[in-house]
Amino acid sequence: MEHHTLRAKPCNSYLFFGILLIFAFLASFADAAIHYHEFVIEAKPVKRLCRTHSIVTVNGQFPGPTLEVRDGDSLVIKAINSARYNITLHWHGLRQLRNPWADGPEYVTQCPIQPGRSYTYQFTIQNQEGTLWWHAHSRWLRATVYGALIIYPKLGSPYPFPMPKREIPILLGEWWDRNPMDVLRLALFTGAPPNVSDAFTINGQPGDLYRCSSEETAIFPVEAGETILLRIISSAMNAELFFGVANHKLTVVAADAAYTKPFTTNVIMITPGQTTDVLLTADQPPARYYMAAHAYQSANAPFDNTTTTAILEYKSAPCSAKKGQSLKPILPQLPGFNDTATTTAFTAQFTSLSQVKVPIEIDQSLFFTVGVGLINCSNPNSPRCQGPNGTRFTASINNVSFVLPRRNSLMQAYYQGQPGIFTTDFPPVPPIQFDYTGNVSRGLWQPMKGTKLFKLKFGSKVQIVFQDTNIVSVDDHPMHLHGFQFYVVGSGFGNFDPRNDPAKFNLFDPPKRNTIGTPPGGWVAIRFVADNPGIWLLHCHIDSHLTWGLATSFLVENGVGILQTVQPPPLDLPQC
Ligand code: C2O
Repeated sequence: MEHHTLRAKPCNSYLFFGILLIFAFLASFADAAIHYHEFVIEAKPVKRLCRTHSIVTVNGQFPGPTLEVRDGDSLVIKAINSARYNITLHWHGLRQLRNPWADGPEYVTQCPIQPGRSYTYQFTIQNQEGTLWWHAHSRWLRATVYGALIIYPKLGSPYPFPMPKREIPILLGEWWDRNPMDVLRLALFTGAPPNVSDAFTINGQPGDLYRCSSEETAIFPVEAGETILLRIISSAMNAELFFGVANHKLTVVAADAAYTKPFTTNVIMITPGQTTDVLLTADQPPARYYMAAHAYQSANAPFDNTTTTAILEYKSAPCSAKKGQSLKPILPQLPGFNDTATTTAFTAQFTSLSQVKVPIEIDQSLFFTVGVGLINCSNPNSPRCQGPNGTRFTASINNVSFVLPRRNSLMQAYYQGQPGIFTTDFPPVPPIQFDYTGNVSRGLWQPMKGTKLFKLKFGSKVQIVFQDTNIVSVDDHPMHLHGFQFYVVGSGFGNFDPRNDPAKFNLFDPPKRNTIGTPPGGWVAIRFVADNPGIWLLHCHIDSHLTWGLATSFLVENGVGILQTVQPPPLDLPQC
């Protein structure tokens, strides 16, 4: 405190009282820290599958740095773009209350950071704890630009489960034996689906079942008898994954940074964007055990059918077991690639820890069909029409294939009142009703393009039913909403039945999530309160589908007063 303020003598008792107030104020924030980081986006040579590629990284690390904070802390992250691509960073699952400027999706809440430029993301974590992650949100750069974001409870508040002896972040990823940006470029040119990946990875490593990889397989040491917490994050691009650990049960305790009633399982299914926290007790004979992940493929489409592994190693395991290549660890039994029954049974077990406040009276009821589609070409023999029968792949919600603007970001255009960047006529229901999961007539396979947003009043209670379609193929679409956590109140197969299905909703203890998949050929219903003003992207977290337009955005209007109004943008917000 500056000296002269003390000398500017008000009445002494006021002064004393004022100082007391300041102390009280400081004490209430004593736990909250501000974390400063520099994230230098830079190319780095990385060798995987026998070949070295120059990949985009943060600070030369792959996966990127783990951020560890507590609820209530603030982060100030200066992103310096020393790479050759435009880029943005997204803090997946953070609410960013009134602060869309820090959210990150390019051309939605900000213009990209150009090579040679920087932008500082500043935000505070408000009432969130658990496992989240961060990733690039610019074309396919997130294939290599991602890391864990771990939010511990406020000092002194415990986990709602016994304190684990150690915690291990497990980042599942996907690797191409070429530049992912080239994979994207080729797909955008030909109109065909992008090449499938060449490997899955655990903490950046494919593991023992791939060429030239076993030297660097991730190994996680444990003490016999101890219970550990695995914070599993799916940073995969286009694949949903089954994950298990040989001979060990997993107890799910949280997902998407929200606690769940614990339940035990042999295997989890995790979609791109989701996180799952599991407890594992090292109660097996001391040895080495594989943890492994392979695809859950619900669509009728090509996929990467390889298996990534890492090793859970008991410290007391005999040395022969540790060194000897002859003694291979045991592999977990993972479900078959198309095992929707296991996925459905697993997903059905998620509930919140206790009763939660779910919106009951709905102000805005939305019905969104989601799926891929095909664009007919005037010249089906064109090299640009390499989809089935000379078409190009696309994807849409309610028959609108989302197109990102180029001249400005949606949020900047909205804030500056610049017209012509977007419209707010996104349809609340599909323009045509049809048997969504039956045989869909070819006339309905081609959506329209548009930058259409859906407007929500501040504080409105929203329900969205996501209905998968059988256009081209049914699929599990992991739908992710920025700026919110929502409750998953129901799901089912076939077409949603508005007369009978709502009666079966769980409005008591539904799980809170930020990413949820549609059952393939089915629907899932979510509810949330639109209490965060700004523009928030909603999209399928399968990157090939996002690329094709499986997205839209909500424009949540300001409410009343400063606490319900979007903050002013930071001065260094990039311009397009
Ligand atoms: Cu993981 Cu649009 O985000």
